[in-house]
Amino acid sequence: MTQTANEQRMRDRSHLRTVANNLALHLHPPRVPAAALRFSYTWGLGGISILLVAILFCTGVLLVFRYEPSVNTAYLSIQAIETKIFFGSLIRAMHHWSANLLLVAVFLHLLRVFFTGGFKQGRGGNWAVGVALLLIVVAFNFTGYLLPWDQLAYWAITVATSLVSYVPLVGSWLQTLLLSGTQVGQATLSNFYAIHVALLPFCLLATITYHVWKIRKSGGISQPVLLAGERRDSLTTIPHLVEREMAAAAVVVAGILLWAIFTPAPLADHVDPTASPNPAKAAWYFLGIQELLLHMHPLAAMILLSLLLVMLLLLPLLERRSSDVGIYFRSAVGKRTALVGALLSINLTPLLVVVDEFWLNLPAVWPALPVWISNGFLPLLFTLAGLATIYLLIRVLLKANHSEATLGLFTFLFTSLILLTITGIYFRGPNMALTLPF
Ligand code: HEM
Repeated sequence: MTQTANEQRMRDRSHLRTVANNLALHLHPPRVPAAALRFSYTWGLGGISILLVAILFCTGVLLVFRYEPSVNTAYLSIQAIETKIFFGSLIRAMHHWSANLLLVAVFLHLLRVFFTGGFKQGRGGNWAVGVALLLIVVAFNFTGYLLPWDQLAYWAITVATSLVSYVPLVGSWLQTLLLSGTQVGQATLSNFYAIHVALLPFCLLATITYHVWKIRKSGGISQPVLLAGERRDSLTTIPHLVEREMAAAAVVVAGILLWAIFTPAPLADHVDPTASPNPAKAAWYFLGIQELLLHMHPLAAMILLSLLLVMLLLLPLLERRSSDVGIYFRSAVGKRTALVGALLSINLTPLLVVVDEFWLNLPAVWPALPVWISNGFLPLLFTLAGLATIYLLIRVLLKANHSEATLGLFTFLFTSLILLTITGIYFRGPNMALTLPF
């Protein structure tokens, strides 16, 4: 190679490096605290979520070239992607599994921020932005679920939209709006497609940009407490942070590729509105809610869920103690409250599910009362009283402060959500009766 060609190559490389460095420095501050680089503080979950969004956008754009949002051809176009298009099956599988993984990654990221108190010290607004992101990711998965137009999609969306109808006051209006009619059909498919490929990508990109900008405005992520021997140094973002991000990204991309190669995305039979599967289940991430509806009048279940969502949103106002930010589980007492919250839930949640399934029949206990009271408001009151009791017991018996007791209570709630979802996925059989999965 001549000297001029060599020089040109070096110039191109250094130009590329400048562009890449500039991009990194738009996202990150030039220096970061050394302790915040510890992988076991963030587990890279926010970055992994961004990476998954990038994979979803790339594979999604490719799928749009061949997918047809019509009830007559949607299923056939997915079959063509699976069998006739070069790498079509792999691209669809990567899109499918990344979407599911994103839900898990975002939930785990929420737990990480919660357990390290990363929502305090002026980061409360960004916590609320995070909750909005979680809802957008759920909406993405929900609208995407219908697109293959197979039995799984049709019935999961039918069940999920019937859950929406129970939202107090605006339920049936919301259901009609979502379905664009009275049942899942062409109008629903067209709307879900438009929302999935146009509206939600815009909302997600705008909200993630704002989320990342807010982190920079708060001076980076919360500072983890220093380990023994660790110094409060700062390191340059390039290469220290970027190197770690690249390594994590390589592992995640390799993992998804391998998984997608060996596990194709599911595709059931073509839609048949007359043949409802038994059991008819919502998508897995809604099964916790579907499970709750088996135990409580829908109106009460929706009120409970709305209250819990508001509590999650307002967490930064409910829990402000800033001296424990950056410490996993706040303190030694906090570790105990979290453990007690999780253990209580692991024992209580399955016990209540089984008791309600086989023995408890509240409408029969109070036959004179309307069902929405006996099986709705009374269980709702018991649940709220139970949660208040757990909080008070943790405070008194474990001598916990408000911050540590809130940690215990929320750990109880998060564990219950996971357990209800597992029950819905594995322990509900025909007619949604409780069964063993084996
Ligand atoms: C698509 C979804 C999301 C993406 C892409 C995302 C991205 C990120 C990134 C890259 C970080 C910095 C590094 C890290 O903590 O890993 C971060 C921090 C943060 N995120 Fe998220 N996030 C998402 C969802 C959420 C959710 C659901 C919440 C909570 C409800 C949340 C609340 C926060 C907060 C408060 C911080 C600052 C934490 C601290 O300073 O310790 N985010 N996010």
